[in-house]
Amino acid sequence: MPGDDATAGPAAADPPVAEMAAASLAPAAHPVLEPSRHRTFIKSIVGGSATVEELVGRKVVVGGWVKTGREQGKGTFAFLELNDGSCLANLQVIVDAEVFPLSHLVATGTSVLVEGVLKKPPEGTKQSVELKVEQVLEVGPVDPSKYPLPKTRLTLEFLRDFVHLRARTNTISAVERIRDELAYATHTFFRQNGFRYVHTPIITTSDCEGAGEMFQVTTLFSDAEKVEKELKQNPPPSESEIEAAKLLVKEKGEAVARLKSSRASKEEISASVSELTKAKESLAKLEERFMMKPGIPQKDGRIDYARDFFGRQAFLTVSGQLQVETYACALGNVYTFGPTFRAEHSHTSRHLAEFWMVEPEIAFANLEDDMNYAENYVKFLCQWLLDHCREDMEFMVKQFDKTAIDRLKLVSSTPFVRISYTKAVQLLENVTDKKFENKVEWGMDLASEHERYLTEVIFKKPVIVYNYPKGIKAFYMRLNDDKKTVAAMDVLVPKVGELIGGSQREERLEVLVDRIREAGLPLEPYEWYLDLRRYGTVKHSGFGLGFERMILFATGLENIRDVIPFPRYPGRADL
Ligand code: 4AD
Ligand code: MG
Repeated sequence: MPGDDATAGPAAADPPVAEMAAASLAPAAHPVLEPSRHRTFIKSIVGGSATVEELVGRKVVVGGWVKTGREQGKGTFAFLELNDGSCLANLQVIVDAEVFPLSHLVATGTSVLVEGVLKKPPEGTKQSVELKVEQVLEVGPVDPSKYPLPKTRLTLEFLRDFVHLRARTNTISAVERIRDELAYATHTFFRQNGFRYVHTPIITTSDCEGAGEMFQVTTLFSDAEKVEKELKQNPPPSESEIEAAKLLVKEKGEAVARLKSSRASKEEISASVSELTKAKESLAKLEERFMMKPGIPQKDGRIDYARDFFGRQAFLTVSGQLQVETYACALGNVYTFGPTFRAEHSHTSRHLAEFWMVEPEIAFANLEDDMNYAENYVKFLCQWLLDHCREDMEFMVKQFDKTAIDRLKLVSSTPFVRISYTKAVQLLENVTDKKFENKVEWGMDLASEHERYLTEVIFKKPVIVYNYPKGIKAFYMRLNDDKKTVAAMDVLVPKVGELIGGSQREERLEVLVDRIREAGLPLEPYEWYLDLRRYGTVKHSGFGLGFERMILFATGLENIRDVIPFPRYPGRADL
């Protein structure tokens, strides 16, 4: 029954789709919805596999933001360079003055949705195809005197003040496409290698690295503020009010008892009991308010975390490793990929307070296996960018780092150097052409300058340094037979320094207990972690790749704040 309300038809089988569409347009029965519109991505026009011949003559709807617009031919038409973020390249769009008032379209940043026909431009122009607009469907105007991102080239530092708009620039949108590809490549790599993706908690009660760099998660402050406000608006009861309420409960109780002993009627007794209940409730409320104290709750002179949201101290995770180990010890090969948080007060170009980490964890795997996976994974990422991100990578080469593509090629095809920490220190001690700020001696943590010297100057390729002194590494790393070093490994790459940190995990219960104690950490929060060693312990290994460091390495950009959409660092957490 075309045109009828679909629900009012005879109780038959599902109606044909065409009839349903007709029914849903019936004005009386349903509100009219705007029809959906197919939008063509600019990528499929300027960067796709279609030939110019295939494209020319096609009618398309495209939407995007104007990069540059200029009126031409004495205001009879305008050229718009339109970008929709699907790729770096813009589409040249031509609008005649009869179609739309041109002055509303040409300002940089204006959004437009237009319908038109693809045309071959005149000989000698750089575009292979352009769009002749027939209809302007939608416009989001911009006042050029106020738009913060004018056409001129802006520094990345300047753009950090506009994180809500900077994705419209060539650089930040290219970085984001590269970032997205690396995330997709990550899932692809681990899936191909039989890994399961596990979501580990963001809020945690254990400090993985034991470095005390955790952000605390608490509601104690907002609770205290609420109490303070509440007490101001509604002062707490006085002691005499409490006494009066107590007296009332006593009297009501006695009344119930009297009625019961005089065998009063059921109705009389229950009415009296309900009065007693009311009196008790109001006493309880008064007492609760009487106990309300402004400020952070304390017990024995210390903050009383039992009164905090989780009933104990909680933090934002610095790493999902400890938790993902529980799944490795059940599912075998797993990984987690999520945000991690570190309250380090470092203002370097390599550190963020919130960054993303990829952390595989592998059961029945030793340090050698760990290094193999790390190397294969990094190579896979580099090859993926070469295969899937050519246009954006070429932009990086042109604008920021001439060697970016060569670096990807080198890393994807050359075996990584593997040297022990002891050997690395020997090599650094023999360096004569450079004076390091931090003195080189066995036992020290390698500083960024040392890491970069090893990978950029000595080897000119990625270097995996393994077997570090136990004193500078986390408690969970497996103690080597020399009792001085642990089965740790760091992957160092040119441009960045440390890209990956990982290790074989200590699977021996007693050794692990000693290591936790040695690190000055309390055992109680790690009991569950020790259970993994008590019940069916297994040799296992894993690592963490700093996702933003990987993007720095790939793009050649200098500052980590420009490769994450919303950077968080000391003093800054915009949006
Ligand atoms: O070496 P890290 O501290 O290792 C761990 O957290 C281990 N639990 C990982 C594991 O074995 N599952 O951190 C791993 C990597 C570093 O190599 C570095 O690339 C990156 O995370 N990273 C940071 N990236 C940005 N900002 C920071 N503040 C970072 N701290 C570490
Ligand atoms: Mg590390």
